[in-house]
Amino acid sequence: MDLYEHQARELFEKHGIPVPRAEVTASPERARGIARALGGRAVVKAQVKTGGRGKAGGVRLVADPAAAEEAARQILGMDIKGHPVGTVMLAEPVDIEREFYVSYVLDRAAGHFLAVASAEGGMEIEEVAAERPEAVARIPVDPAVGVTTATAVRIADAAGLPPQTVDTLVRLWQVLVREDALLVEVNPLVRTADGRTMALDGKVTLDDNALFRQARWGDERAISADPLEARAAAKGLNYVKLDGEVGVVGNGAGLVMSTLDVVAGCGARPANFLDIGGGASARVMADGLAVVLSDPAVKSVLVNVFGGITACDAVADGILRALEEVRPTKPIVVRLDGNNAGRGRAVLAAHAHPLVEQATTMDGAARRAARLATAA
Ligand SMILES: Nc1ncnc2c1ncn2[C@@H]1O[C@H](COP(=O)(O)OP(=O)(O)OP(=O)(O)O)[C@@H](O)[C@H]1O
Ligand SMILES: [Mg+2]
Repeated sequence: MDLYEHQARELFEKHGIPVPRAEVTASPERARGIARALGGRAVVKAQVKTGGRGKAGGVRLVADPAAAEEAARQILGMDIKGHPVGTVMLAEPVDIEREFYVSYVLDRAAGHFLAVASAEGGMEIEEVAAERPEAVARIPVDPAVGVTTATAVRIADAAGLPPQTVDTLVRLWQVLVREDALLVEVNPLVRTADGRTMALDGKVTLDDNALFRQARWGDERAISADPLEARAAAKGLNYVKLDGEVGVVGNGAGLVMSTLDVVAGCGARPANFLDIGGGASARVMADGLAVVLSDPAVKSVLVNVFGGITACDAVADGILRALEEVRPTKPIVVRLDGNNAGRGRAVLAAHAHPLVEQATTMDGAARRAARLATAA
């Protein structure tokens, strides 16, 4: 998962890398206040998870708080390569003497990390690498050893960076390791007119496999998603929102995918993908059905379960639990087959809920759910 620049900045600061003072906002009025607090002048920067913001007009130096408000208003209305700008960061302007590039990136093919550094920072490193490959140093980093002061000195030497950057090179490696990142990039890392080293722009990509240890970013991911997807993710469900009207719940990704196809073949459109997984419990079924039923676009629901490890009577229990918890107003067509299907069907039949009907085949169930959705 990529982080926003302001989140990368926060991590740099946490690990002792000098960064300019800065604050994030979604409000142009607030931007004016932040600029005032920064001393009047400010750099207003679009916060989007894509590169080339500067070229797109998403990075602007302003001379006073009124201009900061105006720039924020313009930038907040922008769309940069398909990314709408939701927030801007206002940063303290720094007097730049020189700009450098540094990054650590996982080189999967080689099985180690790579330090990439150049004394020609600021612009896109791909362009520098294409035009003047000798200006870009690439030093392998053994993940078991990491970037020690000695390694950092070698990197700085190879790239032509001043010795004052060595401390930052070591700390940047700490960001990568301690924050579970696969990429950390600073472009530009600058030397200021008064001789300080500072990170003016940062990119961090976290390892998704480690997100469970970095819980603070997990929330961010959920917030940025569709609200139903966020709710499903919070319950640990494999749910993807689609734009149709037949809610679909099934077990196993393959079965759910073919259920979507069959629904489409019946002239309706699936409202979602939801795989409750092999060995799903009544609880998972109830949670899944609750999410699908809460989608206002859903007109009918198709539950298609082929019991393997999952027992159909547990699925039926889950459906009954969801009926109690959610009190649905939409029809639900259930097809149970496989492990304990007979018992599962009997549980539902005994309950005789007016909105639940059963079908014996997948095609029949899909046809019925499609008809109910289009009639509604
Ligand atoms: N706080 C600052 N003070 C002075 N100049 C800055 C500051 N922040 C950025 N700049 C200048 O603006 C340039 C572009 O900023 P930045 O690197 O953040 O955006 P970008 O590289 O265009 O965006 P992206 O990373 O999306 O490609 C920098 O190279 C630097 O010259
Ligand atoms: Mg940059």
